[in-house]
Amino acid sequence: MLSWDEFDKEDAAEPAKGANAGHASEAAMDKLDSAGGAAALEARAANASDSAAVARAKAALNKLDVAEGLAELEGSAARVAVDEKRMINCRADLNQLVPFKYDWAWQKYLDGCANHWMPQEVNMTADIAVWRNPEGLTDDERRIVMRNLGFFSTADSLVANNLALAVYRLITNPECRQYILRQAFEEAIHTHAYQYCIESLGMDEGEIFNMYHEIPSVAKKAAWGLKYTRAISDPEFNTGTVETDKELLRNLIAYYCVLEGIFFYCGFTQILSMGRRNKMTGVAEQFQYILRDESMHLNFGIDVINQIKIENPHLWDAELKEEASQMILQGTQLEIEYARDTMPRGVLGMNAAMMEDYLKFIANRRLSQIGLKEEYPGTTNPFPWMSEIMDLKKEKNFFETRVIEYQTGGALSWD
Ligand SMILES: [Fe+2]
Ligand SMILES: [Fe+2]
Repeated sequence: MLSWDEFDKEDAAEPAKGANAGHASEAAMDKLDSAGGAAALEARAANASDSAAVARAKAALNKLDVAEGLAELEGSAARVAVDEKRMINCRADLNQLVPFKYDWAWQKYLDGCANHWMPQEVNMTADIAVWRNPEGLTDDERRIVMRNLGFFSTADSLVANNLALAVYRLITNPECRQYILRQAFEEAIHTHAYQYCIESLGMDEGEIFNMYHEIPSVAKKAAWGLKYTRAISDPEFNTGTVETDKELLRNLIAYYCVLEGIFFYCGFTQILSMGRRNKMTGVAEQFQYILRDESMHLNFGIDVINQIKIENPHLWDAELKEEASQMILQGTQLEIEYARDTMPRGVLGMNAAMMEDYLKFIANRRLSQIGLKEEYPGTTNPFPWMSEIMDLKKEKNFFETRVIEYQTGGALSWD
């Protein structure tokens, strides 16, 4: 049986930090060699019953250079002290999750896990009947469903790719990386949810998945986001200079504040409004779970951006502030255009002008969340029910479906 006392003793024996990090790693290697060495060699000794393949595997392990292998790790090999941890350009070992520095990131990871859900749990039967019935929805309502599935089915892939192929590597903090991995999986679930809606409703998949090439109001949003991935997804790209650190910040603002923080909101509002009127309730339920995840992604992103600013105040100069503000205003404008395209007339108790007010209200929030001046003074929220949906307490089972059952996911019991 495992005894934690043994681990404590080792902890006390050799604290290794900072300047003597090199010594520490050599000492650690010696310990590795002596502790399990004899037993390992015995286990690896050639045996008459070994097949040629097994013998080759053992011979290869005899040549394994552990010191060389571990030298490939990101960050120094010493034990990590909290003060050494940083959001970007950190030199501490990135595989040591604890001690935590950013408790908020770990808490969001736990909250995300506690909110776990899967698209197949949502009953789509009523939606299929409504969608197939020629009288089930008006043309304007069908347009809203189609356009939003078209936009979202690819948008969440853009977000996931940006995380996995660009951002993950550049955020040098293990508790934030842990959340980013959770977020990337949630984006996969969201893409799955859209695919599940498209398949359930028997839509033309080619048409839906190609809207980001073919429908201008969808294509413009996708192209705007992709522009900010280009530089940092280059494998040669690295942070560490003022210009490259700023480039990463621009990407985080583009994706968290604009893509996830503005580009999703017209569509979420339209589909949830449909659900509130008892139409396409399955699709609306999927969107409601997605919105709950997305509001956490947004909050995580805002925290990351603000933490980078705190740790690197020289990056947040007048030029970058102006640029960030412009990015949010451009995003708002593109979303207003999307609202007009998806709602040429009033529909579902809303119209493009009300949506414009709502988007300006959201834009003010995004600006002030990263410390910038609001640009649409006096704007109020015409859809207060959206805030109510987002503010619902996690433990409240607002759809009375099975999701509540996942919510023990964060708790461990040793009884
Ligand atoms: Fe998503
Ligand atoms: Fe997201």
